[in-house]
Amino acid sequence: MNSDTSGTDGALAPRRYTDFRAALQLSYEEEISGAAYFAGLASHFEGRPHEALMLLARIEAVTAAAVRPLVVHYGIEAQPSATLRAAGRAEAEQRRGQSWAMLVAEMARDFPAYVEEFDEIIALAPAEDRAGLAVLRDHEVAAVDFAQMERAGDPGSLSPLHDFLARYQVA
Ligand SMILES: [Fe+2]
Repeated sequence: MNSDTSGTDGALAPRRYTDFRAALQLSYEEEISGAAYFAGLASHFEGRPHEALMLLARIEAVTAAAVRPLVVHYGIEAQPSATLRAAGRAEAEQRRGQSWAMLVAEMARDFPAYVEEFDEIIALAPAEDRAGLAVLRDHEVAAVDFAQMERAGDPGSLSPLHDFLARYQVA
């Protein structure tokens, strides 16, 4: 995951991309590791936090599956899924003991940078691939909306996650 920070609030700075294929590979790999990361985090919690984190894990997996055809199309050789999942689980393990409120605050602060990154990747993409990459932006917007609503104590905060899955999850 991205660990660069900038600005006085410590928020993540978006990474800059110049090569579409490299950016697509990284995005795909980070969705696979992200699914394991959120599932790992979910195991640290019960109740609503567990439910939210499992939804985020599913969203990462759905997003990876949605961009996989383009990864194949471009002949990209991603790192083995087992390696990526192990990295995601390890990152979750490092966060054991972190409170739900802290995790949510961090998501709300840092995830908007990923929306910017995905906008940049989509802009770099060949025009015919852009529609197929909208899922990258949409899943991150859902996560940002969730985090900001959850931080504000909105009881409907899971709805952006459910809405994303209703739209993109293949039955
Ligand atoms: Fe993601």
